[in-house]
Amino acid sequence: MAQHAFVTGSSHGLGAYLAARLAGEGWKVTGLGRRPESETPGTPGVDYIQADLSRSETVERIPALLGETPDLIVHNAVSYPPRGAQEVSLTELDDVFRVNALAPYRMTLDLLAAKPDAKFTSVIVVNSESMYHADRDSGVYAASKAALRVLTASLAEASRSRNAGVATLLLGPLADPDKVEQLRRVADSRGVDQAEITRIFLRKSNPDLVIEELIDFEACYRSVQYIAGLGRTANGMVCRLDGGSAGSLI
Ligand SMILES: NC(=O)c1ccc[n+]([C@@H]2O[C@H](COP(=O)([O-])OP(=O)(O)OC[C@H]3O[C@@H](n4cnc5c(N)ncnc54)[C@H](OP(=O)(O)O)[C@@H]3O)[C@@H](O)[C@H]2O)c1
Repeated sequence: MAQHAFVTGSSHGLGAYLAARLAGEGWKVTGLGRRPESETPGTPGVDYIQADLSRSETVERIPALLGETPDLIVHNAVSYPPRGAQEVSLTELDDVFRVNALAPYRMTLDLLAAKPDAKFTSVIVVNSESMYHADRDSGVYAASKAALRVLTASLAEASRSRNAGVATLLLGPLADPDKVEQLRRVADSRGVDQAEITRIFLRKSNPDLVIEELIDFEACYRSVQYIAGLGRTANGMVCRLDGGSAGSLI
């Protein structure tokens, strides 16, 4: 029987890519996003749940909606603050923290509690190197991801002696199509090679990283495959695909 994967934030970006790749490899995939299904890629093999993870009712009904706890859970959904740090309201702050940190934490607790001991479940929590580099604009997002990292460590601790692995996939700037297109336009307008514009962009936007190319979605998928394939050994693991210098102190 096909293994079951649950991918949050599957309606767009990296989540859509991961859901499609898993389905292409024969997984039965349940994806979740906020927009209506008609506005998603509609990938064959991906069942879609339209739901808002900032709402408690959604989070509470996920185990019932999924039925048996999936073999693989990828917490990928992300809420970026809708406006600048100085203007963001308390309700908006709440939304960011719920989607990015609290919902994955609560859902993982509930889904792991619901599974039989004999069944192995791999939980992969997508995080961002931004949590190490907060400035006044990125502070809210970075703090939500830092909270997610700490909660993930606690989930891994709670998963000791349990048939589960809870790991972090820590990513740097992704080659999402919008970003790539913007860089292409800048390169065209200046008559410069796109790779060179990307290098300049990364040096300016992420001076602490040593990468000169954006991280492609396929590398993220292969990391998900790798972590899931490690089984219980991956419990507590942080897989950094972020361009962070391994020798630097945090
Ligand atoms: N983009 C980067 O450069 C980058 C770098 C490092 C790490 N990451 C991490 O990679 C992951 C994916 O990022 P991305 O940039 O690909 O994201 P994205 O394109 O903005 O997509 C975010 C996904 O999360 C869903 N989502 C947002 N709010 C939700 C809510 N309240 N309820 C349910 N679903 C909700 C969105 O659904 P709708 O669109 O349908 O609302 C969408 O499917 C995130 O965990 C992010 O932190 C990204």
